[in-house]
Amino acid sequence: MKGIVLAGGSGSRLYPLTRIMCKQLLPVYDKPMISYPLATLMQGGIRDICIISTPKDLPVLQSFLGSGTELGLTLTYVVQPRPEGIAQAFLLAEEFIAGQPVTLILGDNIFYGDYFYGDGGFSRAVREFEDGGLIFGYYVSNPQDFGVIEFDAHGRTIGIEEKPRAPKSSYAVPGLYVYGDDVTAVCRQLRPSPRGELEITDINRAYLERGQLRVERLGRGIAWLDTGTPSSLQEANAFIEAIEKRQGLKIACLEEIAHHQGFIDREHLARLVEGLPRCDYRAYLERLLAQSR
Ligand code: G1P
Repeated sequence: MKGIVLAGGSGSRLYPLTRIMCKQLLPVYDKPMISYPLATLMQGGIRDICIISTPKDLPVLQSFLGSGTELGLTLTYVVQPRPEGIAQAFLLAEEFIAGQPVTLILGDNIFYGDYFYGDGGFSRAVREFEDGGLIFGYYVSNPQDFGVIEFDAHGRTIGIEEKPRAPKSSYAVPGLYVYGDDVTAVCRQLRPSPRGELEITDINRAYLERGQLRVERLGRGIAWLDTGTPSSLQEANAFIEAIEKRQGLKIACLEEIAHHQGFIDREHLARLVEGLPRCDYRAYLERLLAQSR
């Protein structure tokens, strides 16, 4: 399974924070935003990952994340010249995808909860994925701001609408999508929407029409946050801070996850930690190393 983090967009809703700064490197409590979606892919066991961003931000993201080898990953960088839709990611990354199944996550989406740890939840869904499309449904108070799923009386998915005025349910589609090896072919059939974008919702509809779309509802114990506006960014900051302080465990500590997933061994982690400046983040990893002896 390949992975894509789509870290595009001009971050206009966060202006002037994003006038110079890349949106996905803005802090979410103690880490840059992109650490969180990257962590989610890694927790799904995905190591071969493509980062897609704007001509302005891609070089900055590349200097932050590098080749990925430090984390046992292979990172590829692809530019999205213009903001022409989430679905365009699959066309831009076609060479990288190389006819394999692929999971796409949006660079400003944060997922937290047991489902994203261990072998049973998301990582199992990725491992057992065969073909078609797998998306998620998450109950929200403002479905009109998202892709929204319509269910029939038996709970079967019968429709998906992008930002409907009158949502047919409270279940939004989070920015985490798993597709089979035919996703680029599906994209080629798409036409731009009235806002001039290739819509991810149209990919989901195409799989739904063929009876190949699976929707997994994420339960109430899971947090799905996005960070696209000053207030949602602030809320995500507060959420991460509260949980990390309470547990003394970090969310989306990439070095920890790489080690936990077996992407890097203990010696490799120890060498990484030696290279870090003296700070809380380093102290946290030193504690983990001492405990894993
Ligand atoms: C996009 C998708 C929408 C999805 C959302 C999740 O919206 O178009 O279907 O629910 O991401 O974050 P946008 O970021 O364009 O508002």
